[in-house]
Amino acid sequence: MRRKLIAGNWKMNGSLAANAVLLNGIKADLGQAACDVAVCVPAPYLAQCRAELAATPIGWGAQDISVHESGAYTGEVAAGMLLDFDCSYVIVGHSERRTYHAESSQLVAQKALRALNTELTPIVCVGESLAEREAGKTADVVGEQVDAVLAALNTEQLAKIVIAYEPVWAIGTGKTATPEMAQEVHAMLRAKLVEEDSTVAKGVKILYGGSMKPDNARELLAMPDIDGGLIGGASLKAADFLAIIHAA
Ligand code: PGA
Repeated sequence: MRRKLIAGNWKMNGSLAANAVLLNGIKADLGQAACDVAVCVPAPYLAQCRAELAATPIGWGAQDISVHESGAYTGEVAAGMLLDFDCSYVIVGHSERRTYHAESSQLVAQKALRALNTELTPIVCVGESLAEREAGKTADVVGEQVDAVLAALNTEQLAKIVIAYEPVWAIGTGKTATPEMAQEVHAMLRAKLVEEDSTVAKGVKILYGGSMKPDNARELLAMPDIDGGLIGGASLKAADFLAIIHAA
């Protein structure tokens, strides 16, 4: 059985004061969560997360890393720096990075490798746009995105990644993929993993992301290949994030 993971993606939101309220709210009612829980936060708040979460079962991480180890890359954050703040996770290849920063699938794969080489778990995001879905290209687009990662990683490394299927048209729009639509893509992704290694394929978590909310989480999370959620908007409200955790 794969243990589910509910990961928050705060995106470019937060302040020291607001984060304290949010994290304390989550901690207060987390109880004995039967799933893994993490928050991926803007880099300046990693120290705050470490201070607030170190004594809890909640993990933390960042939303991107540089593909480079260190050096003259102004504005970038190195994977090794995240380790200084005891991060466990880093999101790579979020559609907002692919779109606004022109990140290619090959670059995303190299970032995943950089994370793994730094003992971080990469949450590798894939997903199609509305135009691509309507053109019947979902499997091709998502397949190409994941193939780049499969080409860059050996099976031992593959076993350590998390994949997040996030249809771009569902992100922040309130439009969620139906459980059946999401399951179809998750099953396709699982089949690709099976082609690499059937044992590894059974263990890799594939999260769904895109307007997952308390009122749709339960049915999405009930699908056989949906192993958790990457939660944007709903991760910014303690009550909503907790409701999704409890649904898992
Ligand atoms: P959303 O974002 O839950 O606000 O749709 C998900 C994500 O982009 O990771």
